[in-house]
Amino acid sequence: MTTEFVPDSEATYNYRVVRQFALTTLFWGVFGMAMGVVIAAQLVWPELNLGLPWTSFGRIRPIHTNLVIFAFGGGALFATSFYVVQRTSRVRLISDRVASFVFWGWQAAVVAILFSYPLGFTTSKEYAEMEWPIALWVTIVWIAYAWLFFGTIARRTVRHIYVGNWFYGAFIIVTAMVHIVNHAVIPVGLLKSYPLYSGATDAMIQWWYGHSVVGFILSVGFLGMMYYFVPKQAERPIYSYRCPSCTSGRSSPCTSGPVRTTCTTPRCPTGRRPSAW
Ligand code: HEM
Repeated sequence: MTTEFVPDSEATYNYRVVRQFALTTLFWGVFGMAMGVVIAAQLVWPELNLGLPWTSFGRIRPIHTNLVIFAFGGGALFATSFYVVQRTSRVRLISDRVASFVFWGWQAAVVAILFSYPLGFTTSKEYAEMEWPIALWVTIVWIAYAWLFFGTIARRTVRHIYVGNWFYGAFIIVTAMVHIVNHAVIPVGLLKSYPLYSGATDAMIQWWYGHSVVGFILSVGFLGMMYYFVPKQAERPIYSYRCPSCTSGRSSPCTSGPVRTTCTTPRCPTGRRPSAW
């Protein structure tokens, strides 16, 4: 007897981790934007910092940026990438345990950020203010995420890789790359380190990271999300299924080779509608 494939079934896919990340995305979004309102008000009324170091603009601003980029934006990408990769690959995430580790590991990193910045523990690098133990933890969680995402793609039961997954893949690889390179430091204490690079080199690495981390989290990852949800909501295909392969290729030096090659072939594997949604 053959079992029928039920795409929406909890037994077929891991929707738990999707729900967990979706809920925390909402929570951190509200919290992070509330922090944005606080610092916006402080720009007009500086006395709102109450004369305390912990609540000063310089310490709350990185909480705002880190929460909205990593906890809110990142959370939305974890939730949707896990949803999209399972449905378009027609296979469950390769490990429920690792999915749970990625969820709780990410929340732990966000909470560590939330406490360490107001207390003044910071590298002072924009969007990379986290001190080395948190950065190291984020690297471990990210590698687990990459393993889960690419491992699920490797086990897909449909031949092509849906275009949204190429964007998510590029976002995962490049975020890892810039995070690891920019956080190369020499620790001199549990919560104090100095960059491996000096002077202008450090500044260039830092803003190569700053630009890329915002670009790949808030643009490339979100394009992956859009390539799944926009046509799905509109209930019609979009006519640029072939073009995004070029965009994704240009966006990422890591994917440009393979993606461009596939794009020039008549039956571009990244440029087709998925057989399953
Ligand atoms: C209620 C909504 C928001 C408010 C009131 C707000 C407010 C602010 C304020 C006051 C700053 C500091 C500006 C400065 O240093 O001069 C800031 C910076 C920033 N915010 Fe927001 N923000 C909000 C939502 C968001 C969202 C949704 C995101 C991204 C997902 C975001 C990302 C950023 C970034 C990346 C910076 C740093 C910009 C830079 O240095 O050029 N913000 N925000």
